This record gives sequence, structure tokens and C-alpha cells, in this order.
Amino acid sequence: MDAALLHSCCLSFFLVLAVVVRRAAAGGYAPPAFRPTAWQNAYATFYGDDTASATMGGACGYGNLFANGYGTDTAALSTVLFNNGYSCGQCFQIRCINSKWCYKGSPIATVTATNLCPPNWSQDTNNGGWCNPPRSHFDMAKPAFMKIAQWNGGIVPVMFRRVPCMRQGGIRFSFQGNGYWLLVYAMNVAGGGDIASMWVKGSKTGWISMSHNWGASYQAFATLGGQALSFKITSYTSHETIIAYNVAPANWQVGMTYTANVNFH
Ligand SMILES: *[C@@H]1O[C@H](CO)[C@@H](O)[C@H](O)[C@H]1NC(C)=O
Repeated sequence: MDAALLHSCCLSFFLVLAVVVRRAAAGGYAPPAFRPTAWQNAYATFYGDDTASATMGGACGYGNLFANGYGTDTAALSTVLFNNGYSCGQCFQIRCINSKWCYKGSPIATVTATNLCPPNWSQDTNNGGWCNPPRSHFDMAKPAFMKIAQWNGGIVPVMFRRVPCMRQGGIRFSFQGNGYWLLVYAMNVAGGGDIASMWVKGSKTGWISMSHNWGASYQAFATLGGQALSFKITSYTSHETIIAYNVAPANWQVGMTYTANVNFH
């Protein structure tokens, strides 16, 4: 066996070994983590002022973005990118290109999708109706926009790509509704950052499929009071499913937010 052949044989052996060891460590099956997508073209504007107070309470339902960890690194997505709310929570890198308003070196802003930039049909798609279909457009919180371009540019051409969301700690479940209707906002989702489907389980029930309400909220029409609640959640991007057992104690209440000890990767 010559040196090159020996090298290629043993390299493959160690690669296979590494994969086997990694799978065993992950309990047999490790779904692939979400990887950044290719860069695409779009445009970006900004909304609100330096405090980003206008960005609070967006269409994804995250409420106070400071309290919920998203801060001012957020953006409203045009209809095409918003995907009926399934893009809520996704993370994007955005850099300004080919404009005198871009900062030197084309620095990157990383934002979370927290809102919808609605179409305005009384404005032309190429003159003010920036968020109208079929445009890919980011209406960024002003502090996020100011990381990539001078704000007086108004609208700038950008490149963007999806990236994995880096989050501290587990998924947070914020409860609304009443005794017969549980409406849950899932926040702080890592990995793809998004959600395809969700189930809830009371300590006295089986898994109940929740329907998509709006933004990042899911609902169950069920009587779950007095029961500890677990959630099963599937990522929209990676299709990975994770289970968060007993996230909320039996005395859970609407208006409260409960944190799981699991998250996507
Ligand atoms: C839509 O555009 C028109 C024309 O510029 C403007 O007067 C109106 O306020 C816009 N509507 C919204 C909801 O922004």
C-alpha cells in the first residue's frame, strides 16, 4: 500500500469513527444542525427611532422585545419573507452593498424576525411599496439599520442570508387564553429559530396537537387548568422535534412565561 492510499484509507476510517462516536454520544441520532444559507439580494429600510420603541409588539407576538431578549436587533419582513408567520424567530445576517450610504467594509447586522412589514397597495412596488409582494425586503429596527448604513440613505440594497439563532437557555413559552383555550407564544428558539408545529400535554392528557394562530403563537382548545404542561415542538427549518417535559407547573396561569430546559441547536 503506498503512502497516499494508506492516508486516504485511514482518513476515511477515522471520519467514519468520528461520525459513529458523535451519533452514539447524541443517543443514536443527531439531526443535522441548521447551517447558514447562501447570500441573496434584497433591500432594507428602517422603522421607528433610536429607541426602537415602535418595534415593540410586532406581528410575531413577542411583546416587549427587551424583556424577551430580542432587543433592537430585529426586523419586520415583507410578506414574501414572512411566510404567514412561519419565519418568526428566524435569524438573518444583513449587509449593505453597492450604495454610498453603506458603511465601509460592509459590516454585518444580525437580526431576528419579529414583525411583518405589511404591503401598501396604494404605493408602487418600486416607489415606496417596498414590502409589497414579490419583493424581499427588511424593514429593520433603526439601531440595527445603523449598524450597516447611514440612516439618511432611507433605503439601501443589501445581501442577506439565514443563520442559526444563538440563544441563551431554553425555549420560553408565554401563555395567553382562558380556561378552555390555551394560546402559547414560543420565544427564544435557537437553531432555525422557527416552529412548524407544536403539541401540548397535560399531566392527565395525551399529546394534543396545537393549531397555528398567528406569528409565533399556537393554540389548543382544551381544559388544561390544574395540570403540569409539557410541550413537543418541531422546527420548521430542520424538522427536528424536541420535547420539553413539565415546563409549566400545575398552578400555571395565563400572562406568565415558562422556560424549558431544552432548545434546538
Ligand atoms: C400607504 O401609502 C399611502 C401613500 O403614500 C400613505 O398615505 C398611507 O399612509 C400608507 N398606508 C400605510 C398603512 O402606511
